[in-house]
Amino acid sequence: MTENIHMANTLSDVPAKPIIFSGIQPSGNLTIGNYLGAIKSWIRFLEEYNCIYCIVDMHAITVRQVPADLRRHTYELLALYLAAGLDPQKCTLFVQSHVPAHAQLAWILDCYTMFGELSRMTQFKDKSAKNADNINAGLFTYPSLMAADILLYQADLVPVGEDQRQHIELSRDIANRFNGIYGDVFKVPDGFIPKVEAGAKIMSLSDPEKKMSKSDTGFGSVRILDSRDEILKKFKRAVTDCDSVVQYKEGKAGINNLMNIYACFTGKDHAVIEREFDGRGYGDFKLAVGEVVADALAPLQEEFRRLMADKGYLESVMRQGAETASHLAAKTLRKVYKKVGFAGV
Ligand code: TYM
Repeated sequence: MTENIHMANTLSDVPAKPIIFSGIQPSGNLTIGNYLGAIKSWIRFLEEYNCIYCIVDMHAITVRQVPADLRRHTYELLALYLAAGLDPQKCTLFVQSHVPAHAQLAWILDCYTMFGELSRMTQFKDKSAKNADNINAGLFTYPSLMAADILLYQADLVPVGEDQRQHIELSRDIANRFNGIYGDVFKVPDGFIPKVEAGAKIMSLSDPEKKMSKSDTGFGSVRILDSRDEILKKFKRAVTDCDSVVQYKEGKAGINNLMNIYACFTGKDHAVIEREFDGRGYGDFKLAVGEVVADALAPLQEEFRRLMADKGYLESVMRQGAETASHLAAKTLRKVYKKVGFAGV
């Protein structure tokens, strides 16, 4: 008996792979939150999706950056993407500012995004509070640039950490509004947020009620490029509670966070972890978490250093990625220009 398989006779019969788009700002040293909430989850899509992963440098300048640092962080972020396993033969890796269509579409989408919507963005409120002397227009309209990133590529799925949920919802609202006026121009994207135990929301080690963030320079943030020693020290100091049983439970934010980190790096679930540390106390557990994190990051760090020594290669990946992305983006932008009535398109 033959299996009932749909056979493609020509190339156009082969169903196109769905499209994934995501990005990270080169605004500082990446944390294990960025790694677990984003990069690590991106890798699993490489085979079955057409993946486009961006370094969003235009988003980064909504907060003041030292130009030399921004440039270095851009190369570093690309090297990290590659070192983590994002193979440029299997996905498109590029820098946002290399593809002008992002800025061009963002302006148009600004005109279809409401002041009230942008005012409700919690990230805008948080960042305005942190940068009270620089509440610029770019910080405010940041979500419409993010919508442009996603909608330009007709993305089906956008894998991000929990903190980006509101921005994805707004991107969907903007796409629906635009489509409602002009017909089906944009694919309305779905977000993909891993489960909390799979890394959607890694919390600070010094304040487990707060998300681990690139901008936190204290011991609360574990960086992908921290040395083994630094990683072990940070976990040793991790804030927990006055109990001593390793157990995933409401009200134990510090231990819950450590259990999630341990689960992500070992693939073990909470019940297995509880059994493994039964009767062993917090000290042992913190040391074990530090060790699995340091062990997992060591090969990635080594590959990162090798890649950073080869700028020529990094630049060739950027160039190739920008070429592929520009081609895809131009198609959508042209369609949008026509729809809104720009002449001579
Ligand atoms: P950014 O650069 O702040 O963060 C990059 C990714 O890391 C995730 N993340 C976390 N995940 C789990 N735990 C944490 N503590 C943690 N901290 C950060 C973020 O959710 C994100 O997925 N606006 C975006 C970048 C962006 C973008 C886009 C993303 C611009 N355009 C288009 C997707 C699609 C941002 O600032 O991410």
